[in-house]
Amino acid sequence: MLISTSFFKSCKNPSIEELKKYGIPKHVAVIMDGNGRWATSKKLPRIFGHKKGAETLRETVITCKDLGIKYLTAYAFSNENWQRPRQEVLELMKLFVEVLGRELEGLIRNDVKLNLIGLRELIPSDILAVFENAEEKTKHNKTLVFNIAFSYGSRQEIFQAAKKMAFLYREGLIDLEKSDHNIFEDYLLTAGIPYPDLLIRTSGEYRLSNFLLWQIAYTELYFTKVLWPDFGRKHFLLAIKDYQQRQRRFGKL
Ligand code: IPE
Ligand code: IPE
Ligand code: MG
Repeated sequence: MLISTSFFKSCKNPSIEELKKYGIPKHVAVIMDGNGRWATSKKLPRIFGHKKGAETLRETVITCKDLGIKYLTAYAFSNENWQRPRQEVLELMKLFVEVLGRELEGLIRNDVKLNLIGLRELIPSDILAVFENAEEKTKHNKTLVFNIAFSYGSRQEIFQAAKKMAFLYREGLIDLEKSDHNIFEDYLLTAGIPYPDLLIRTSGEYRLSNFLLWQIAYTELYFTKVLWPDFGRKHFLLAIKDYQQRQRRFGKL
C-alpha cells in the first residue's frame, strides 16, 4: 500500500486539527528547563535564555488555547531556585514582573485565568502583589486555567497540607475516620485542579525537581532534549501526539 507523503508529514508535524480528532489532555504541566544552557550556548548572559523562555511560554499558552486544553501548569521558579546567585534571582524577579505586566491584557482578552501555585510566604510582597493583581483581574475567566508554579516546592506543599490537617484535627474541626486521601488534596496548593494528564520536561534532564510529586502519580511523562527556549508550537504538538499514542491503564487491565 502506498502511504501518502502527507502521512509522514503529519507524523513529524501534526496539525492542531488533526490532533483534535483524538484525545486532547485536559491538563498539561511543563518543567521549563534549559534557559541558561540555551543562552550560554549562544555566548549570551543567562537572563537572555529566561527572556526567550518567557516568549516560549507565551506561545505555549496560545497553543493550549487553540488545542482546547483546559489547564496548563508551568514550573517557572522552584523553592530551591531561591538559592541561585542573588544576581540571577533579582534578574528573574524583574523579568516576572515585566512579563506579567506586559501580558496581562492579552490574558484577559483571551479568557485565560491566571493562578499562582507557590509558597506565598517566601515571595517578596511587591512581587506577590503583581501576581495577586493578575489573579484578581482574571479570576472569572474560563477558557484556560494557567497555573504558574512560582516559589513552588512539592515536599513543602505536602508537609504544609499535613500540618494544616493535623491542626484542624486537634481543634476537632475534621473527622479523619470518615476521610480518604481525597480530603488531603483540599489542603494542597492545587486544590480544585485536576491531576495533570501529561508532564513535559525539556532540556534532557530526567527528574522532577520537587514538582507536583503527589499530583503526577498517574501522569504520562514526556522528556525531550530540546531546551525550553526552543520548545515552540511544533515541539509542543509533537508531545501531544506522543501522549495520544499512550495507553493509560491506571493499574487496571
Ligand atoms: C529553567 O532554566 C528556568 C528556571 C529554573 C528559572 P534554567 O535556569 O534551569 O536553565 P539551565 O537548566 O541552567 O540551562
Ligand atoms: C526546575 O529546574 C525548576 C524550573 C524549571 C523552574 P532546575 O533547573 O531548577 O532543576 P534542577 O536543579 O536541574 O533539578
Ligand atoms: Mg535548569
